[in-house]
Amino acid sequence: MNDKIVINSSLRTVEWKDNKVIMIEQTKLPNELVFVEYDDFNQVANAIKTLIVRGAPAIGVSGAFGLGLAVLQSKAQTKDQLLSDLEYAKNILFATRPTAVNLGWGLKKIMNVAKTGNSIEEIKELVISTAKKMADEDIEINKLMGKNGAPLFDDNDTIMTHCNAGALATVAYGTALGVIRATRESGKNVKVIATETRPIQQGSRLTAFELKHDGFDVSLVPDTAVGYSMSNGLVNKVVVGADRIVKTGHVFNKIGTYQVATMAKQHGIPFYVAAPLSTIDMETKAEDVIIEMRKGSEVTGIGENKTAPDDINVINPAFDMTPPELISGIITEKGVATAPFEESIEKLFK
Ligand code: MRU
Repeated sequence: MNDKIVINSSLRTVEWKDNKVIMIEQTKLPNELVFVEYDDFNQVANAIKTLIVRGAPAIGVSGAFGLGLAVLQSKAQTKDQLLSDLEYAKNILFATRPTAVNLGWGLKKIMNVAKTGNSIEEIKELVISTAKKMADEDIEINKLMGKNGAPLFDDNDTIMTHCNAGALATVAYGTALGVIRATRESGKNVKVIATETRPIQQGSRLTAFELKHDGFDVSLVPDTAVGYSMSNGLVNKVVVGADRIVKTGHVFNKIGTYQVATMAKQHGIPFYVAAPLSTIDMETKAEDVIIEMRKGSEVTGIGENKTAPDDINVINPAFDMTPPELISGIITEKGVATAPFEESIEKLFK
């Protein structure tokens, strides 16, 4: 591992620059900090699909930037042709990952704005400026979430987090890790326990890397040590992100979140979720949310090393659902929703 990687605080996970999309290539972390540069929306779609960029808010903004590239790529001569080219690109971008609602949210927002343009030039300008604004707003929203969440944490707390809901899962600052950052910025001393997050280790590759880089006291545990950590008094609180929250307060997040929440309930440890309103899906029912199933090779090996017999059957869901009764609060930019969630979530939108 290369300890010399230095991330400048103004660095963004995904960015629009000179009519190109620049991203941190997250599959290379923590060993190398590599940036990729795209000028074709198909490349952005591939980056979302292959987890070069991942995390619900980051893929929402990436989808929007993908449409920014699509308007530049289009050779349309009429407004209708341009909208149809955009629709085509939107469908390709949307098909990349099914669970995080932010992707569909970002694409829909851009499509709606595009339809208000009166000319090709105006549509191009509107799409690109709206996508750039979404990226800037993502950081502001994360900071507001941090401000709302920080009072829930105490001086000297050790906070467990799962997967990566940090700067690397957003444009910058993070959702769950944004709350942890804001808690420290409010003058409290906190420690963090990051779960490894098998199979593809966003916890060890990304969260541990990101927090260590920012000087946090962070310890890494295997996913199998969540029960040990909680039953031995090593954890005071938990905060995780979310890929989709439905109006009943059911939270869809990285596989293993449900286990962490269940274990937290068992030990009387508050379990918080931090997510922007763009992650809340008021339309879909919990039972209709599609859980992405990923390839077996993520489970039958670690990196290039094979750790399972040939031809073994694998079940590899990327996300699971945590029911509202296990959740102490949902931290958003508009405030903290608590049980009964159906009422408190609705209030956030008013
Ligand atoms: O498969 P990933 O890495 O995209 O999954 C990410 C997560 O599950 C995060 O916890 C979630 O998107 C919240 S990110 C702010």
